[in-house]
Amino acid sequence: MNVPSKSPVQLFSKETQAIFFNYKPQPIQRMLDFDYVCKRKNPSVAAIVNPQSASGGFQKAFFGRCEIAIPVYDSIEEASSKHPKAAVFINYASFRSAFESSLTALQQPTIQTVVIIAEGVPERNTKVLIARAKQYNKIVIGPATVGGIQAGSFKIGDTAGTIENIYRCKLYRPGSVGFVSKSGGLSNEMYNVLARTTDGIFEGIAIGGDTYPGSTLADHVWRFEQIPNIKMIVVLGELGGRDEYQVAEMVKKGLIKKPIVAWVSGTCASCFHASEVQFGHAGAKSGESDTSALSKNAALKSAGVHVPDSFEAFAEHIQLVYERLVKDGVIIPAVEIAPEILPKDLHTALKEGHIRKATHIVSTISDDRGEEPLYLGIPISEVIQQQMGIGDVISLLWFKKKLPRWASKFIEMCLIVAADHGPCVSGAHNTIVTARAGKDLISCLCSGLLTIGPRFGGAIDDAAINFKKALDNSVPPDVFVEDLKRQGRRVEGIGHRIKTAENQDKRVELLCQYAKQHFPAMKYFNYARAVESYTLQKANNLVLNIDGCIGSLLVDLLSSCGCFHEQEVKEILELGALNGLFVLSRSMGLIGHALDQKRMKQPLYRHPTDDVLYATE
Ligand code: ACO
Ligand code: LMR
Repeated sequence: MNVPSKSPVQLFSKETQAIFFNYKPQPIQRMLDFDYVCKRKNPSVAAIVNPQSASGGFQKAFFGRCEIAIPVYDSIEEASSKHPKAAVFINYASFRSAFESSLTALQQPTIQTVVIIAEGVPERNTKVLIARAKQYNKIVIGPATVGGIQAGSFKIGDTAGTIENIYRCKLYRPGSVGFVSKSGGLSNEMYNVLARTTDGIFEGIAIGGDTYPGSTLADHVWRFEQIPNIKMIVVLGELGGRDEYQVAEMVKKGLIKKPIVAWVSGTCASCFHASEVQFGHAGAKSGESDTSALSKNAALKSAGVHVPDSFEAFAEHIQLVYERLVKDGVIIPAVEIAPEILPKDLHTALKEGHIRKATHIVSTISDDRGEEPLYLGIPISEVIQQQMGIGDVISLLWFKKKLPRWASKFIEMCLIVAADHGPCVSGAHNTIVTARAGKDLISCLCSGLLTIGPRFGGAIDDAAINFKKALDNSVPPDVFVEDLKRQGRRVEGIGHRIKTAENQDKRVELLCQYAKQHFPAMKYFNYARAVESYTLQKANNLVLNIDGCIGSLLVDLLSSCGCFHEQEVKEILELGALNGLFVLSRSMGLIGHALDQKRMKQPLYRHPTDDVLYATE
């Protein structure tokens, strides 16, 4: 036996709380769901230790209908000192780090039981843990265990699986059976069997399948003997190891008075004699004849334990013993109670079709639910395969059309020519100041972009709308300009600070040349030029500017490419989509300016006072 006589008998109660090592949302939620179903008053997980989280914080989980915030610590010491009532340490560390963390947990005065889930913990490490547990009068369950459960009170991690299984096996209320097994998987099976053949378990422990478990079958049988609520004991052993002999020995010596029904699985291993075969668990080895299932079953039987002749008869034996104890008045069958019904998560209820939920967002341009994103139904691999360019992607995502190549190429030209216009324009100025003030790249970019508007780069849509409306209504250019003037408005798309009739904007020239070669029609651009001829009579800087040029040519493109109805063209302009081209394009230049300034490392704290005119009224 590993467990010293001074170690605690009752490991769990309806008040027991645990510290969970490593953040594993699913087993934590399963514990809390069990708590709720059993009508526990407080959640069984008091704290989480997550050594990867640098600075604590909280993790959210459901406790029935409510959400709770479970505190997270980065050290076991801190968690146990802040939660002195948490007596169980559930260790979900990997086999590499399970030893150190378990050792630390054993050293905490408040921790009484350490459960090690990891498989593959080196045996020499487990032996050290066993020695320490003995020294401190504590109990280790595992390694390589799913844990254990006290019905209606406390459940370790994933023990007993889903909440449906908890209901099915009536684990939400205590029964009369103390069950111990090596295997976690078979424990779950046995909870089902025991729910059908008895009034269910009081407590079930899976000790884990290692050769040297932290606590043995015998340790738990010994505990069960001393727990008054447990009236009969069921043991499911397996081939390999000598643990079952200890149980037989205790029965023989009269130390265990409660009836035990036991079965050692692995009787088939006799077919593998003459060679050592390992059956799943590290400790389940066929080899020496006295560790075989057959000889251990025989030893248990001869000690007075109820042992069936085959595994099939195990359930029947359990039922017979249970019914005899009921008849003798030793067991008063557990009274059935209604468990709390766990509310379903929105996600689960939706998946199962029990509820419907209105969506908040409708998207018509892209879809990321499949293996690869779709742009307007076209997989991105096809976008690449078809050698589509940025203009094509913009057409798909902004205009929801696959435009002819001449048109998407024009869009790309707009992006290229408007990418930058020197450090003196509003956007670049703001970006430069922001960069020199030490802000990050995104802030620099945003501060520049925020200047885009009627005086700088943001006149494309209004220019397009106005030129189109005027031409569609056959308004002569001079009347158009004078009408706007009467309204006190400037002609959007006309005018420039440095460009004049004599110093034409090269960008306008380039776009115009391309349009002449590829566009089926240029009537809106020609109208804009006619407006320019009129405004140039007023002042030589009232040229068709880059916004006016892009705006009018895009109206020509949209109207003549054969992809849009008149109404669709109007909608695109009204949505303000065309200014988006300037934003996208100028972002390239603004990022360039931000990086340029950052590279130079010239901080700016304030302008000199002689750079400012202090004007007072
Ligand atoms: N339509 C009619 N009159 C104009 C226009 C115009 N688009 N632009 C300037 N004027 C007139 C002004 O009313 C002013 O007349 P006034 O002397 O009789 O009062 C005169 O021209 C000079 O005005 P300023 O404000 O000095 O002109 P500035 O050169 O600073 O303006 C600007 C340049 C901001 C581009 C201006 O022409 C304008 O507002 N244009 C319309 C909006 C536009 O197209 N913006 C995008 C510019 S392109 C780009 O940023 C990428
Ligand atoms: C630009 O493209 O940024 C310019 O046309 C604006 C300007 O003021 O020169």
